[in-house]
Amino acid sequence: MGVAKQQKGSRRHVWLQYGVWCFGFLLVLGTICIYHFFGIRLQGQKNIPSVDPESFYVAYPRKYRFVLNQPEVCKHRDPYIVIIVPVAPRDVEARNAIRSTWGNDSLVQDGDVLVLFLLGLPSGSDPETQQLRIHQENLRHRDLLQSDFVDSYRNLTIKTMVMLEWLRDHCPQAYYAAKVDADMLINVGALTQMLLRPTQHHSNYITGLVWYGNIVIRDPSSKFYIPHEVYPYPVYPPYPLGMCYIVSMDLPAKILHVSRKIKPIFIEDAYIGLCLEQLRITPTNPPNKAQFVVKPPLVYDRCYYSDLIAVITDSPAQLISFWIDLHKPGPACKEASHTPLD
Ligand SMILES: *[C@@H]1O[C@H](CO)[C@@H](O)[C@H](O)[C@H]1NC(C)=O
Ligand SMILES: *[C@@H]1O[C@H](CO)[C@@H](O)[C@H](O)[C@H]1NC(C)=O
Repeated sequence: MGVAKQQKGSRRHVWLQYGVWCFGFLLVLGTICIYHFFGIRLQGQKNIPSVDPESFYVAYPRKYRFVLNQPEVCKHRDPYIVIIVPVAPRDVEARNAIRSTWGNDSLVQDGDVLVLFLLGLPSGSDPETQQLRIHQENLRHRDLLQSDFVDSYRNLTIKTMVMLEWLRDHCPQAYYAAKVDADMLINVGALTQMLLRPTQHHSNYITGLVWYGNIVIRDPSSKFYIPHEVYPYPVYPPYPLGMCYIVSMDLPAKILHVSRKIKPIFIEDAYIGLCLEQLRITPTNPPNKAQFVVKPPLVYDRCYYSDLIAVITDSPAQLISFWIDLHKPGPACKEASHTPLD
């Protein structure tokens, strides 16, 4: 009896020792793994004050509501293309410039093109007064969509996602949607002509100036800085530049669906790229890439501008003056031999 007990006791002792060794081994292994994992990241950030990775994401709980909405507008108008212009709440000058130029309904053929502005909530000084003005502006023009997140540069991705929600929920019968920045001069006629080409795709289609292999900025002083822990790869997947891109109407729902798997970063167009990659949809350059211009020549040229679809302007005043010049009578290009850039 006594011997058996003793044997049992020593066996337990061996097992205990074995257990302690195992535990110790796992502890060391774990420490090495954790060190290895974070060590690589820490190396790159030795002298940089640590930044909260969360600050590179946006809050998109999919619960934002529209404070201002035009829920019936697509039923009344049945547009071919819906152009949504994300714009800061206080930037009424930019909205008016677009309303009086390329966004003016009465100048666009048969209501085929619907132009709406998308705002978040005003912030900064006196948001109540700003909000009151926005309401009045909407009573006059009935072209504002406003969602209840705080409008800011860092929240632009939220704006894009809310735009996609609106398109999915309120205008699925249109063929295309475009996201256009408020400083863009758009040739709506040329845009619709481009989309009406018989070779044009009606699904899984996204076009604009496509950026391929755009390098992820690792310089913390840059506006576009993204740390490794937020996006580990050296380049973004291809995506169309945020200033102006056009999607077929099946894409808003598809992008929103797949976005549930991808935490939204604040760089709006790069985030669309991440969603497209997940959907295995490749953005396409427009038939004529030269018609989309980020950096126009310093000197305005009527002939050159007359052939463009989308071009950045410096100010609302410049947008208006170019548009007026482009719409005065007479041929845009002087010599008959002169062909616009192709
Ligand atoms: C739109 O164009 C029409 C006709 O040229 C003009 O009467 C109207 O004032 C314009 N609308 C705006 C908001 O400028
Ligand atoms: C973005 O919007 C959310 C929701 O309204 C808000 O809590 C957050 O402060 C905003 N972020 C910035 C940088 O404005």
